[in-house]
Amino acid sequence: MSSVIPSFPPFDTDFNKTFEFYRFLFKTKLKSVCDSFCSNDARFRALYDAASYSLEAGGKRIRPVLALEMCRVCGGTLENAVPAAVAIEMIHTFSLIHDDLPCMDDDDMRRGRPSCHKAHGEAVALLAGDALSVSAGKIICDSNLPPDKKCAMISVLYDCTLGMIEGQTVDIDGQFSSIDSLLDMYEKKTSLLLTASCVMGCIAAGADSEKTEAARRYAYNLGIAFQIIDDILDVTSTSEELGKPVGSDAQQNKTTSVTLLGIEKATELAEKYTEDAKQALGAFENAGFLYKLTDMLLSRKK
Ligand code: IPE
Ligand code: IPE
Ligand code: MG
Ligand code: MG
Ligand code: MG
Repeated sequence: MSSVIPSFPPFDTDFNKTFEFYRFLFKTKLKSVCDSFCSNDARFRALYDAASYSLEAGGKRIRPVLALEMCRVCGGTLENAVPAAVAIEMIHTFSLIHDDLPCMDDDDMRRGRPSCHKAHGEAVALLAGDALSVSAGKIICDSNLPPDKKCAMISVLYDCTLGMIEGQTVDIDGQFSSIDSLLDMYEKKTSLLLTASCVMGCIAAGADSEKTEAARRYAYNLGIAFQIIDDILDVTSTSEELGKPVGSDAQQNKTTSVTLLGIEKATELAEKYTEDAKQALGAFENAGFLYKLTDMLLSRKK
C-alpha cells in the first residue's frame, strides 16, 4: 500500500471515466498485493497462486468501487479508502471461491474461467479462500490509516463477513417458503458485504452517523436488488455473458426470487429496492455517480 495514490477525480467527471479510473487504480493495487503474496518459499506457491488466480480474474469490482465512491461523497481522501477497497474484494473473492465448491453450489466456472477448485484443486481452493479472508484484515492493519479508523473498519468488515457466512449457511438447503424469509437471507449473504464497502468508505472519510446510517440503508436495498437480478440472470442469461454457469440455482434446487415470484414480479421487486436505495442517497451531496451505478446494476447483463 506504499505507492503514491492520486486524488479522486472531480465530481463533474463523466460516470464511465470515473468508473474506469477506479477500476484501473484498483487493478494496479491488486497487482501489487498479489505480487507481495508471492512467497519465496516454494511450499506455499500453490496457495498464493490460487488466491491471485481468483482475485485477479475480472470481476465487476462493485464492492471496491462502492468503498471508494462512498469515501469521495463523504469528503475523504482516496488514499484512506484504498485499503478498504482491497480488503472487501478479498473477502468477496473468498466468498465466491467457497460458494463454488462441490459441497456448496458446485459451479465449475467463475469470472470467465474455471472456478478456483477446478484450476487448483479443492483443498488448495479452500485454503486460498481462508488465506484471502484473513489477509483482508491484515491489509487494513498494515495500512497508514490512523488506529481508530483501522479498528472501526475491521469491526464492520468482520461483522459483515460473519453475517455473509451466516447467510450462506441458511442458504445451504436453499428452501424458503416465503419471500420475506428469502430476503432475510439475501440481506445476510449479499447486502452485508455491500454494507461493509459503504460503511468502510464512510469511516475512511470520517463521515457522521447520519451519513453512515444512510450508507447502510443504501447498501441494504442495493444488495437485495443486486441478488434478485443475479437470480434472474441465472435463468435468462448465458454462461458466456455471465462468466459463470447459468441454471445453477435450478441445478441445486434452490428457492430464489424467480421461483417464488416469477421473472416479471421479481423484476418489479428489484426495481422497488433500487428506488429505495436511491432514496437513501438523498443524504449525500454529489451522489450522481452512485445514482447511476445503482441504475446500472439494475439493468446489468452480467
Ligand atoms: C456475485 O457477485 C455474488 C453475488 C452476491 C450475487 P458479483 O456479481 O459482484 O461477482 P463479480 O465480483 O462481478 O465476479
Ligand atoms: C452467493 O450467491 C453470494 C455469496 C455470498 C457468494 P450466489 O450463489 O447466487 O452467487 P453466484 O450466482 O454463484 O455468483
Ligand atoms: Mg450460493
Ligand atoms: Mg453460487
Ligand atoms: Mg446466483
